[in-house]
Amino acid sequence: MKLLLVFSSPNGTTRTTANLLKKAFLPYGHEVEILDIGRSPWRENHADILQEIRHAEVVGFGSPAYHMDFFQPLLSLFNHMAAQSEPFPIRAFFFLPFSGITTGKAFLRATRQFRRMQIPVIGAIKIQAPHFHHTQPFPTPETEHHIHTFVSELEIKKYAPIPWQMTEDQFKPFTPKVHVIRPLIHWVGKLRELPITMEPALCTRCGKCIRECPAGAIHKNGLVQIEASLCLHCYHCVAACPKQAIHCPVEKLDAMMQRNIQIIGQEIPANQYYV
Ligand SMILES: Cc1cc2nc3c(=O)[nH]c(=O)nc-3n(C[C@H](O)[C@H](O)[C@H](O)COP(=O)(O)O)c2cc1C
Ligand code: SF4
Ligand code: SF4
Repeated sequence: MKLLLVFSSPNGTTRTTANLLKKAFLPYGHEVEILDIGRSPWRENHADILQEIRHAEVVGFGSPAYHMDFFQPLLSLFNHMAAQSEPFPIRAFFFLPFSGITTGKAFLRATRQFRRMQIPVIGAIKIQAPHFHHTQPFPTPETEHHIHTFVSELEIKKYAPIPWQMTEDQFKPFTPKVHVIRPLIHWVGKLRELPITMEPALCTRCGKCIRECPAGAIHKNGLVQIEASLCLHCYHCVAACPKQAIHCPVEKLDAMMQRNIQIIGQEIPANQYYV
């Protein structure tokens, strides 16, 4: 069977997850391709991405959990898919690394969109990941085991679609509180966007941040500058800059995460999958 793993991964966890999935699928004799839509030559190249998706049988869509939803490049890909007149003859699954609070909302939203596109959903997997600034090892042995179990379950169930009513039940938020304050969730997520500052004196204008920014939000007009209106707050530039010329107060992240968990509660337990 031809399997395609399409993802975007500003800080690498989703990319590692895609590679682990590929490793787990290969022993079953599938042909597995990886397509990183955050990177050249695929970046923004929706026509070619759609073409690749069309030629696969099963497509896994991977994204970090961003503000409890999919990361923008994936959402934009879904919208491009929805705008096509020809239906996609594929089955889909989702893989979503997250560090704190997820993902019923993300899965529910995506499966509803896929239902409208008449693309059957065969599974979803949540991966417990460290936040990007942490140095804990990833993947842990548990993560690898989790991914292998997910893939072997897909194999046992013969990649069969999950009935739509079941996806509704499975992916709905676990904590009733989340359900009630759902309109606030995006806003609470936004609160976690930390201000990014540039220190021009440290910048050598090497252009690494420009090449790595998934939003095309960094430009060199003499000085290297971030265009705030385009920035997705992935903080990839902070991690990518070899001169530490781009900063954000990462120490605030953990405190914010804790506060969010107190406000919202954990949605669904970590390291779960649905097939
Ligand atoms: C701006 C931003 C928003 C995030 N929002 C969430 C979130 O809502 N829920 C969550 O569990 N993790 C959230 N995370 C953490 C990422 O999902 C996690 O770090 C993920 O592993 C990153 O994937 P990547 O390494 O492929 O970029 C967020 C991270 C960033 C930088
Ligand atoms: S990666 Fe750092 S040093 Fe290189 S251009 Fe960007 S800010 Fe400047
Ligand atoms: S400028 Fe914004 S979108 Fe671009 S890498 Fe930095 S944080 Fe991410």
